[in-house]
Amino acid sequence: MTLASAIDPGPCGVIKIAPSVLAADFGTLADAVARVTPESDWLHVDVMDGHFVPNISLGPPVVSSLRRHTDLYLDCHLMITDPGEYLEAFARAGAQGVTVHAELGDLDHVIAEARALGMRVGIAANPDTPFEAIDPYLEGVDLVLCMTVFPGFGGQAFMPEVLPKIAQVRAAIDTRGLEVELEVDGGIDATTTPLVVAAGATILVAGSAIFGAPDPLGAAGALRSIAAGAAA
Ligand code: DX5
Ligand code: ZN
Repeated sequence: MTLASAIDPGPCGVIKIAPSVLAADFGTLADAVARVTPESDWLHVDVMDGHFVPNISLGPPVVSSLRRHTDLYLDCHLMITDPGEYLEAFARAGAQGVTVHAELGDLDHVIAEARALGMRVGIAANPDTPFEAIDPYLEGVDLVLCMTVFPGFGGQAFMPEVLPKIAQVRAAIDTRGLEVELEVDGGIDATTTPLVVAAGATILVAGSAIFGAPDPLGAAGALRSIAAGAAA
C-alpha cells in the first residue's frame, strides 16, 4: 500500500536547498517554514531518538503537522537506532523520503520496506564512515547523505576532511550512471557551499545558516546563488 503522498522531488542532479527545521523555532514552526518556502526545494526534518545520537528532536507527529502546513518535499533524516520500527509511521505522517544511517549495519530490508510504503530512500554516512560502507547500497537508493558534522546537533563546524568522500561518491554515481542525489548536512553556509558543490553535492541542508539568520529567506536565496555560481 502506498501511503506517502506523491510530491515531486524535482529533477535529480539539480542543486536543491533543504532548510533543516532543527534550527527553527518549534513553537512557530509552520510560520518559519512558510517564510523560507519560496527559496526552498525540500524541507529537511531531523529525527533523533536519544540512542543513535545523544539528542532527542521530533518524530512522526511533528512530520504529520508539517505535512498539513507545507507542500514541500519532506526529507526525513532518521538518526534513530531502529528505523524499521517507524517506517510506516513516517509514511502515514506524509514523509516523501527517509534516510537511514549506514552505521546501523545491514539495511536491505529497511530500504525495501520504505520503498514498499511508497517512500524514497537515502543512505547516510557519518564523517568517519568510509565510502565502502555505502558503496553496496548505491544502486538501491535515491540519495546518499554525507554528514559533514557528527550528527546530533545543529550549529557545529563543517568538517572539510569529508570533501574527498563526497567527491568519491560523486565519481561513483557518475561512472555508474545512477540517478542518485548527493546530499550534505552539517555546517553548510555561504563559505562551505562552494566547497561541497565543487565536490559534487546536489542537496544542500542548512539549519543555522538559514533559520539562524536575521533574514532566513534571504539567506536561503543567497545559498542558492552561491551554489549556482560554484556549479557553473
Ligand atoms: C545534525 C543534523 C543537521 C543539522 C544541521 O545532526 O542532521 O541536519 O540540523 O545544522 P547546521 O546547518 O546548523 O549545521
Ligand atoms: Zn540532518
